[in-house]
Amino acid sequence: GQPGRTDPLEFDIVEWRFGFPIVMASTAVGLDLADSPGTTVRLKVDAATTVGRTKNLIADSRWGKKGEIVMVGAHLDGVPEGAGINDNGSGSAAILETALKLAKVPTKHKLRFAFWGAEELGLLGSEQYVAGLSQAEKDKIRLYLNFDMVASPNDVTFLYDGDDSDAEGAGAGPAGSAEIEKLFEKYYAKRRLGFEGTDFDGRSDYGPFIANGIPSGGIFTGAEGIKTEEQAAKFGGTAGAPYDPCYHAACDGITNINAAALERNSKAIAYATTFYAYDLSTIPD
Ligand code: PHE
Ligand code: ZN
Ligand code: ZN
Ligand code: ZN
Repeated sequence: GQPGRTDPLEFDIVEWRFGFPIVMASTAVGLDLADSPGTTVRLKVDAATTVGRTKNLIADSRWGKKGEIVMVGAHLDGVPEGAGINDNGSGSAAILETALKLAKVPTKHKLRFAFWGAEELGLLGSEQYVAGLSQAEKDKIRLYLNFDMVASPNDVTFLYDGDDSDAEGAGAGPAGSAEIEKLFEKYYAKRRLGFEGTDFDGRSDYGPFIANGIPSGGIFTGAEGIKTEEQAAKFGGTAGAPYDPCYHAACDGITNINAAALERNSKAIAYATTFYAYDLSTIPD
C-alpha cells in the first residue's frame, strides 16, 4: 500500500457489510451457522474473550462494463494466535497494490476487489457474500481469483488445480477454471519459474464461488504441509520443513514474509487481473 496517500481512489465502496456478530474465543469448540445470510452466526465457545463484529470490504472499479465483472479476493482476517502476516497480509497487500495500480486505468471489464472477513472462522464472509447474490448478480461475475498465503517462507508456487490434472484429485473447477490455471502456468513458464497444482478443495474463499459455478483460480505458496525433496530441488528452500513454519502461530509476524515470493507472485496477480480486465474470451459466459 501507500501510507499517507490523500488522492481519492477510483473505486466505489459498494459494500461495507457488517455481516455477523462474532464471538471470538481462545477455544472455539463448534460453529453453528444460521441458515440465511445476514442473520446471526453463533460460535459455541468455552470462554469468550472478545465480542465484536466483522465485515467484508467490497470495492468496484468505476470503469468497465457492469455486466462483466472480474472479481479478485483475499481474506483480511487472521487467527488470534498471531498477526497473520503471511496468512493473509500477503494476499491482501498483493491485491490492494493491484487495485491501486489499476485504479485510474479505464479497463474494458469491471474490477471488483473483495477483502473478506471471517475466513478463518469457516469462510463466513465469502459464504455470506455469495449467498446474498441473486442469480443475475452471480452471472455477472465472470471469474473469481483468490489469493490466500502468497509469500510463505519455504514456498512452493501452487496453482489451484482447475483442470484436476496435477494435484490429488479434489475435482476440477467450474468450466473456465482450467483456463485460469493455464494462464498462470503460462505466466510462470515463460519466466522459467516452476509451479505445480494444488487441490481445488475449497479450503479458502473461492469455495463458495466454485460451489456456485463461477470459474475460479489463484496462487498459494503453502501452509502447514511439508516440502518434499523434489520441491526443494525445483523451488529451493528446505525439504522436510513446512512451507510456512509459522502457519497459524504467534510467529506469523512482520518478519514472516518471503519478499522474493511476494514480489514474484504479486506480479503474477497483477498480470492475471489486468489480462482478464481486457480479455474474457477464454472464460465461458
Ligand atoms: N485457508 C487456509 C487458511 O487461511 C489456508 C489455505 C489456503 C489452505 C489455500 C489451503 C489452500 O488458513
Ligand atoms: Zn489461516
Ligand atoms: Zn488464509
Ligand atoms: Zn492443473
